[in-house]
This record gives sequence, structure tokens and C-alpha cells, in this order.
Amino acid sequence: MPEQASTLAPEIDFVFNVITWISIFFFVLIVALLVIFVLKYRRTNGRRPEESPTHHTALELTWTIIPLILVIVIFYYGMQGYIIASTPPVGAYEVNVTAQKWSWRFEHRNGARETAELVVPANRPVRLIMTSQDVLHSLFIPAFRVKQDVVPGRFTQVWFTATRPGEYDLFCAEYCGTEHSQMLARVIVLEEGKFEEEIERRAQWIDEVAEEQLYLAGGRIYLSTCMQCHTVQPGIRLQGPSLWDTHELLVQGGQRQFADGNSRVVDENYILDSLNVPGREIVVGYGNVMPPHDRLSTRSKIALIEFIRRLDEIELDARGRPSIPDVGELVEEEGP
Ligand code: CUA
Repeated sequence: MPEQASTLAPEIDFVFNVITWISIFFFVLIVALLVIFVLKYRRTNGRRPEESPTHHTALELTWTIIPLILVIVIFYYGMQGYIIASTPPVGAYEVNVTAQKWSWRFEHRNGARETAELVVPANRPVRLIMTSQDVLHSLFIPAFRVKQDVVPGRFTQVWFTATRPGEYDLFCAEYCGTEHSQMLARVIVLEEGKFEEEIERRAQWIDEVAEEQLYLAGGRIYLSTCMQCHTVQPGIRLQGPSLWDTHELLVQGGQRQFADGNSRVVDENYILDSLNVPGREIVVGYGNVMPPHDRLSTRSKIALIEFIRRLDEIELDARGRPSIPDVGELVEEEGP
């Protein structure tokens, strides 16, 4: 079992363990009796089957009433857990969550927006208000024992109280297309005081620092939204073309060839159209797999274009990913 990092986790594990141990007990009991009876009452040479009773009321009542009580106990604990898990406490800290093929977006009330990280306070109830921009996704945080479908066209919710500061995995648990397995994020749990500070920093980073260092803001969007299908290394292809190639074409004003025989100069508008209506111009040699990102804010799109334009200024780490400074570091450098 993953670490128990929310108030809900011990309760859910308890019910899980109760059901597992009851099942193990009866499995062993039934298989043992089966083997014993097969051996003891087997038909051997010269031995006729004995007369056996056809009915035994006490026995039948026993094996009906005991399982009935067990099932009622299991139902009681399950129902209790379900009611707790589906009723967020009033006054919980709220975060809006938007899922999209194949990334998450977490928006805080103070304006802080994150895609790769969900920052939450420790020891305080958190309620996630979730919706999807395209298909069915599911938000799953194993350490908190919460999993909830994220549905287009309506809101679903999930809540938890994280008990231990630290970093935890967040997965998409509903198959949603080719890069479903890459639809990941980190949950960062911070102590109450630190949390307020961090969320303030992040809001400020978006408002002020991003203005100065727009291309780095674009880099963060790349890491959470584009990286699954586009590398930034020359000539290395995934589902989509390498953005390094796009960078070179953008800087040199080069042309891009499309599958329908047309071509176009790679400029800002080309990138914008690729984000908004990716299916219209398919680069030669690639499939029509990219979902539209037309709901990214205009600012985010500008940031992404800046990121592509200045790719040659960005160092890559050992895995070939751009090294984008952490939000905190940036604020430290640029802060007031
Ligand atoms: Cu989103 Cu799987």
C-alpha cells in the first residue's frame, strides 16, 4: 500500500483490510474443508457411499446468518466511509481543477495557476472542484486514497485533508488517449504558514515575473502540456514534431510542408493556429493526434511562442528536457 498521507487513508485501508482478511479466512476454510472431504469421503474399492442427511436446519441457518452479519458490517463501514468521502467540510480550501488531454490545470483563488504541481496545505480540508475540457479523465492521488472521475460538461468534486508535508504522485486513472500514461502531476503538501507564502509567491510569479521572463513561463507550460508529444531536441520525434525544428524554422522564417501538399511559413500565426486548430495543417509524416489547446489563455500562448523562439537560450538536462527554474527560485531572483 502507498503511504497513508490523508485523514481518509487509514479509514479506507481499514475497510480494505477487513474485507481482505475475511476473504482470506473463508478461502482457506473452504479450500481446506474441500480437500479434507474429498479425501475422507472418496469412493474407494468396495466402499459404498454412506447414507447422508439431506437437510440440516441448524447448519443452513449458520451459513446464512454469519455471512449476512459480515456483509452488513462491511456495508456499514463502506457506507460510512463513502459518506465521509463524498461530503466536503464547509470552509475547505478550494482549488479549481481542469483536465485536458493530457495535462492538468490547478487554479487557486488568489490567482496562482499551476499545471505540473498541485500545492495544498497540510492538516486542512482541501476541496477540488473538477471539470474536463474534452474527454473523461479521472484524478487519482494514491497516497490520499482519493480517485474521482473528471467529466466534460459538469463539475465533480473530491476532498481530502493531507496529514504529512511532502510530495506525492497524481495520476489520470481513466484511459483518455495516446498519452494517458503521461498525464501526471505532483501534489506538494506544505505546512500551513509555508503554504500561504508559497501560494502568494506563485500568484505573484504569474503576475509580475512572467511579464519579464515570459519565455520561462512558456517553458513551464511546455513541461506540463507539450512535453508528452514534442521534444525540444533536434531530430528526435515523438507523436509530434520536435519543437527544436519549429524553433529553427521560426527564427529563419522557413517553410513547413503539410500532408495535404500545402506549405506555410513558420511564424507566430502558424504556431497559434497549430495550438487552436491542430487538425487543419498536419506536418508531413505525422498523424492527426493533437488535441486543440484553444482554451489556453492568450498570455499562455504568447509565452509558449516566446519559449519556442528562445529555445537556443535554454539548457537541457540529462534527459533532454529544458531546465526551467523552479517558480520559487525565479521569484527569489526577480523578487522585490
Ligand atoms: Cu486523462 Cu487518462
